[in-house]
Amino acid sequence: MKPQNVNGAPRTTAAQATNRSNTMSKPQQLRDQAFVAQRILVTGATGYVGSLVVASLLRDTAAQIICLTRQPNDRESLLAPIVEEWEAQAQGCWSDAVDSRVQQMELPDDLADLPDLASALVGVDEIIHCAGCVDYHDMPKLQAVNVEFTAHLLVLARRLELTRFVYVSTAYASGYQPFSTAEAALPEPVLDPTHYTRTKREAERLVAASGVPFVVLRPSILIGTAETGRYSGKRYGLYQQWMGLERLACDRYHPEFHTVAPELPLNLLHQDAFCAAFKLAYHWLPDGAYMNMVSAPETSPSMRVLWDMWFELTRPQTVYYYGSFDDVPFKDIPTRQRAYLTFARVNLEIASHHWQFNTGWLDQLRSKGLLFRDATTPTVRTCQDRFVASSPQIRSYLLRFAAERETTPRYVDVVPETAPLPQLAAL
Ligand SMILES: NC(=O)c1ccc[n+]([C@@H]2O[C@H](COP(=O)([O-])OP(=O)(O)OC[C@H]3O[C@@H](n4cnc5c(N)ncnc54)[C@H](OP(=O)(O)O)[C@@H]3O)[C@@H](O)[C@H]2O)c1
Repeated sequence: MKPQNVNGAPRTTAAQATNRSNTMSKPQQLRDQAFVAQRILVTGATGYVGSLVVASLLRDTAAQIICLTRQPNDRESLLAPIVEEWEAQAQGCWSDAVDSRVQQMELPDDLADLPDLASALVGVDEIIHCAGCVDYHDMPKLQAVNVEFTAHLLVLARRLELTRFVYVSTAYASGYQPFSTAEAALPEPVLDPTHYTRTKREAERLVAASGVPFVVLRPSILIGTAETGRYSGKRYGLYQQWMGLERLACDRYHPEFHTVAPELPLNLLHQDAFCAAFKLAYHWLPDGAYMNMVSAPETSPSMRVLWDMWFELTRPQTVYYYGSFDDVPFKDIPTRQRAYLTFARVNLEIASHHWQFNTGWLDQLRSKGLLFRDATTPTVRTCQDRFVASSPQIRSYLLRFAAERETTPRYVDVVPETAPLPQLAAL
């Protein structure tokens, strides 16, 4: 049987995909000389990715950083995650000298007024746009933040005569495609998993069409560091899944558990791998580059492996694994598991697609000394362990149900019954 993607369309093999994308993108080379900016304007610095980016810029460049923030962020709330990350990355104490390199500027209430900031920002030679909305379900906000904010920022960028605009997109901006995501402008997909991916793709196109020299970075799903699992982000992606389980599946011992468990590699990116790749990408990517920041599929655990890891901990007696949501007998499963599956549905559906990514830039940056830790089952386990250790609900579950957890779970792959053959008489 041919492999299928989530839409039921036949999936291309890795070899076909590589051939296709190789013919589509012309090879670009790294810069001969490292890119340098003096004054960098950063959006989204109060968020997860933005704070990683600012900490890295403070460590790896000598530039002044101006953070565009909105109310009610004061200097303290802006700096707190940056200081934490900088100290972790630089392994030293935050100093007045570093502090003086960070300025804060307030965003106008109406983002359409952003270009009016040009006179106050004379001398800024680069913008790194990390602000974004990742709320899959809030379409107006996705459009306003991911698309319109980007459009207004690009008008400002043109007024400032920048040397570069860096846009933090996502590896999933391609939507569901039957081939590997090229490191190039994206074609329209067969389907988008969410409006999030559509708006990120739209923003990439605005950036490319702006006339401003640009670089697009496309990280996959960020998780904690490979070594210790330290995670500074909100509960998005895998953490959202673990949070859902913490809330809905740790109330009591569930002897049976029903879930959807695709066996395709799920691309996760350790936050220290993101920072390592960002450092070199920042200095060496040429204008017009789109970089997929992803882990190797060969080492990436599948959702099925992540579930196995979870059930090693919670230890139901029987786990029922389904290939897709259509196969789950929703009426017959416990209410909380039904609620969980409803909550996690989008993420599980995204994990059911065979995402493939070209990684030409990562490969080239290795020649510049990039040390990049791909996500693997053991490194993701480190992140899960850290999450569990930080969760009073899960720790309490583990203690309360220690006796029940003596069991060795039985795993059942539920194969859907095939549709009955039509009666001969009806033909
Ligand atoms: N986290 C990931 O795994 C991941 C992976 C790939 C790509 N990305 C991309 O990285 C970007 C940031 O994600 P994140 O994880 O850092 O999210 P986050 O922690 O929620 O941060 C979002 C940032 O955007 C700012 N922002 C949101 N709406 C805004 C608005 N209307 N006006 C001004 N600023 C606004 C937030 O400011 P406030 O603090 O004021 O809310 C915050 O600084 C997104 O564009 C996302 O697509 C994230």
